[in-house]
Amino acid sequence: MPGGMGNSLRAAALLAFVVLSILVSLLISSVQQFGARISHFSNATLAGDDDGGDFASLRGALIHQLNQRRKEIIPLLLPDDDDDGDDDDENRLPGESRHYFQLDQDPDSTLDNSLWSEITHGSRRAHMDEMGCDSLVDMQAVEVLGSGYTKLVVKVRLAGGQPVALKLVNEQGIDMGKCVEDFKDPRGCRELVSYKLKKEIVLLQRLQHPNVIKLKGHCAGDSGGGEGGEGRVTVILEQGNPLQMIQLLQSPWEDRFRVCLDLVRLLHFLSQSPLGSVALLDFQPRQFVTVSGSLKLTDLDDASAEETSCQTDADCTLQFPHRNFTLPCSARGVCEGLSEKRNIYNAYRYFFTYLLPHQAPPGLTHLVDHIMNSTGELRADINQTLEAFEHILLLYKSGLHLDNLPPSIIRDYTVMRGMGTSGNVEYRCWPSYSQQGCVLSVHSAREAALICNSHSQCSSFTLTGQKTWTGRLLASFRSSFAHLVPDGTSEVYVKKTTAPETSTV
Ligand SMILES: Nc1ncnc2c1ncn2[C@@H]1O[C@H](COP(=O)(O)OP(=O)(O)O)[C@@H](O)[C@H]1O
Ligand SMILES: *[C@@H]1O[C@H](CO)[C@@H](O)[C@H](O)[C@H]1NC(C)=O
Ligand SMILES: *[C@@H]1O[C@H](CO)[C@@H](O)[C@H](O)[C@H]1NC(C)=O
Ligand SMILES: *[C@@H]1O[C@H](CO)[C@@H](O)[C@H](O)[C@H]1NC(C)=O
Ligand SMILES: *[C@@H]1O[C@H](CO)[C@@H](O)[C@H](O)[C@H]1NC(C)=O
Ligand SMILES: [Mg+2]
Repeated sequence: MPGGMGNSLRAAALLAFVVLSILVSLLISSVQQFGARISHFSNATLAGDDDGGDFASLRGALIHQLNQRRKEIIPLLLPDDDDDGDDDDENRLPGESRHYFQLDQDPDSTLDNSLWSEITHGSRRAHMDEMGCDSLVDMQAVEVLGSGYTKLVVKVRLAGGQPVALKLVNEQGIDMGKCVEDFKDPRGCRELVSYKLKKEIVLLQRLQHPNVIKLKGHCAGDSGGGEGGEGRVTVILEQGNPLQMIQLLQSPWEDRFRVCLDLVRLLHFLSQSPLGSVALLDFQPRQFVTVSGSLKLTDLDDASAEETSCQTDADCTLQFPHRNFTLPCSARGVCEGLSEKRNIYNAYRYFFTYLLPHQAPPGLTHLVDHIMNSTGELRADINQTLEAFEHILLLYKSGLHLDNLPPSIIRDYTVMRGMGTSGNVEYRCWPSYSQQGCVLSVHSAREAALICNSHSQCSSFTLTGQKTWTGRLLASFRSSFAHLVPDGTSEVYVKKTTAPETSTV
C-alpha cells in the first residue's frame, strides 16, 4: 500500500476501534446466550399475557410470519434418502415443482432433520469440517466488513489466528427496524430475521461452488429450546473483500473480464443447481465479494428456486426499468428459463455494461460486442454465454487474438536477459497495475514492443517474470533508466534507436 497513515486516517481507525469494541461486546453476549431457554413463543407466554386482543393479534401475526419463513426453508433441505427418487414423485402434488412436495408434512419425519436441528439448536455437527460455537471462543474482532438491510458482517480473527467473516442479524438494519415497528417485539423480530440467516446456511450448503462464498460453519444460539428456538444465529464464512465497483472500473480489462467470467460461471451453475434453476432476486454488486481476485456470491437469502406457473406466454414477463421481455409458457405450465434469463439480464445491466466493453483488447472487441448484444437482448442462454466467455479467455491466454503482430517488431529492441534496471524514469499510463509507473500485462515481448512503440515516452520495457491470473506477463514500461542490475527473473528490452548510455553495476 502506498503512502503513510494520515492523521484523519488515524482518527478514523480510532473511531472504528471504539465502534468495534461495542460490537464485540454485543457479539460475545449474543454468542454466550446459550442457556437452555424455552422459546418465548410458547403457549405459556401467550397465555400469561393480559395485554388484550391487540397485543395477542400482533403476536399471532408474528408467529404466522415465523412459520412462513420456516416453511420457505424446508423445501431447500435435503431429503433423507435421495437414492430413492420415485418416492419424491409420489409425494409431489400435481402442479407442484419437484422442490415443493412436502410442505404439508412434518418436515422432521422425511427430511434431513439433523441439518434442521443443527441449524435450530446448534447441538450437533451435521456436516464434517464445520466450525461451531467453540471455534468462536477467544476470537478477536478486526473490523466491520459491511452491512445490509438484514445482516451485519464482521471480520474476526479466531483463536488460531485465522481470519473469518461472521454474519449476524443487523440490529440497526431495515429488516429489524420494520419488524419492530410492525410487531413491537425486538426478541421476536430477531428470531424472525434470523430465519434469513438460517435460509442462507442451507443454501450455502446446497449450492457449493467456487464462485459462492465458502461456509465454514455456524453457531446457533439456543440449545434444546422449543420449536423455532430463540433463533440467534452466527454464520462463519470465508473472508472476502466487498466488491468495489468504482475501483473495478479503474482496473485493467483483464481483472474486469475475470469478474464477469466468474459471474457467468456462477450463473451457469445456478441454472442447473441441485435445487433446480435458481434466480437471484436481489442481484446487485454489493451481494458479491472477491477472494484473491475471484468473484463470490455472499448474499443468498434472496435466492429462489421457485418456478413461475403460467397459462399463456403473457404470464411470463420479465420487467426491468428499460426493457420488458416475454418468455414462453411451457406445456407443463411453467415459464421456461425465467430464472436463468432474469439472472443473465441482471448480469448484463449491473456488470457487463460497466466492466466488459471498455478498453477490451482490439482483437477481442467483436466478440465482446457480440456478448453485449446477445445478453442485452436475452438471445443467448447461459450455456451459450459461458461458451462465448470461455472462448474469449482461451484466445486471450494463448495470444491468438494478436495474430497480426509482425515478428520484425522485436528487432527494434536490444534484449538483456537476467537483468533488471535501477534509477528508473517512470511514466504513467492507464490502466496500470502500478500507481507509480506504467505496468501492463502482455502475451509476449512482441506485444510489449508494440505497446512501447505506441507510447511516445517509452524507450525500454522489462518483463518482470510476474504473471496475471490468466498467465500473461507483467511488463514495466519506462522512458529511461540509469543502471542495469543482475536479476535472474527478468529481461530488459531497450529500443535501439533511442538506447541511452547504460552501465552495468
Ligand atoms: N464473507 C464476506 N467477506 C467480506 N465482506 C462480506 C462478506 N459477506 C458479506 N460481506 C459484506 O457485508 C455486506 C452485507 O452482507 P449481506 O449478506 O449482503 O447482508 P444483507 O442481506 O443485509 O444485504 C455485503 O454487502 C458485503 O459487502
Ligand atoms: C399450544 O396450544 C395449542 C392449541 O392452543 C396446542 O394445540 C398445542 O399443542 C400447544 N403447544 C404446546 C407446546 O403446549
Ligand atoms: C414494461 O411493462 C410495464 C407493464 O406492462 C409497462 O408499464 C412499461 O411501460 C413497460 N416498459 C417498457 C420499457 O416497455
Ligand atoms: C443489438 O444489436 C442490434 C442491431 O445492431 C441493435 O439494434 C440493438 O440495440 C443491440 N442491443 C443491445 C442491447 O446492445
Ligand atoms: C447446458 O449445458 C448443460 C451441461 O453443462 C446441459 O446439461 C444442458 O442440457 C444444456 N442446456 C441447454 C439448454 O443446452
Ligand atoms: Mg446484501
